[in-house]
Amino acid sequence: MAILVTGATGNVGRHLVARLAAAGHPVRALTRDPAAARFPEGVEAVAGDLTDRASVEAALEGATGLHLLTAVGPANLTVPGSAGIAAAAVEAGVRRVTTLWNGYRGPVEEAVEASGLEWTHLRPGEFMSNALTWAEDVRAEGVVREPFGEVAHAPVDVADIAAVAAAALTTGAHAGEAYELTGPEPLTVPDQVAAIAAATGREVRYEPLTEAQGRERMRAMGMDDPAIAYVLGWRAHPPAWTTRASGAVERVTGRPARTFAEWAREHADAFR
Ligand SMILES: NC(=O)c1ccc[n+]([C@@H]2O[C@H](COP(=O)([O-])OP(=O)(O)OC[C@H]3O[C@@H](n4cnc5c(N)ncnc54)[C@H](OP(=O)(O)O)[C@@H]3O)[C@@H](O)[C@H]2O)c1
Repeated sequence: MAILVTGATGNVGRHLVARLAAAGHPVRALTRDPAAARFPEGVEAVAGDLTDRASVEAALEGATGLHLLTAVGPANLTVPGSAGIAAAAVEAGVRRVTTLWNGYRGPVEEAVEASGLEWTHLRPGEFMSNALTWAEDVRAEGVVREPFGEVAHAPVDVADIAAVAAAALTTGAHAGEAYELTGPEPLTVPDQVAAIAAATGREVRYEPLTEAQGRERMRAMGMDDPAIAYVLGWRAHPPAWTTRASGAVERVTGRPARTFAEWAREHADAFR
């Protein structure tokens, strides 16, 4: 009766595993390296790699729910053959599946829609936790460097994405829904910088980067060029729905989406 969470050590998966376990659901957490992973008590860590179908099939055995990453790796591309995971899930007796999109409606979403599973697509905009990539510069120099910082997004807390996923996986109320998940307000990078300054009690300034400087920054972070081009395009010209509050988190969970100010207070130590 377990729910298998892929990406269980990642931003969204970590929260989802903790939330499901705290609510008393049996959770199986997929990771390529169970020895290195730390999960809450009672969570079953299973070794698996989304590029190795046999390992995923083994992890799915006896599962009734599945949270599925649609892409992995530095290029953030759809895992080759991963659409077949939907068929493996049906075979294993899975009933409900949530998909975490990688910015495209791709073969994984199409496959779960055709599978007969009760699916819910999670389509988040910009994660608030992307701001953690600023932490080192904030700690060292009190500065945040980004291109296109004046373009507002309504970033979403990964804890809220996980809350929506948990609701979808544990109730039948969200089958056939594709939720656009945003935070409660549009914010520019300077707005987010001000929230981090307020949360940490430090002076933090925003230093705009050119697009070329932004590209170099992302290369230094280990991203590959196609992924960088995608992110820069998204930052410069975000899809309209990511720039305003969608209200979906509140509709699904019954409470308002978490604010960036709350997120910044919770993560203040990372910036000190
Ligand atoms: N950041 C954003 O603003 C944003 C916005 C919208 C959508 N997204 C999407 O969110 C997804 C990333 O989710 P996240 O941020 O929660 O994850 P994350 O923190 O980037 O962590 C990546 C996860 O993927 C797992 N993983 C990597 N390669 C794997 C493989 N070959 N097989 C199985 N698992 C593998 C890792 O697990 P182990 O290392 O433990 O195996 C880890 O748990 C991406 O597809 C991204 O496009 C991000």
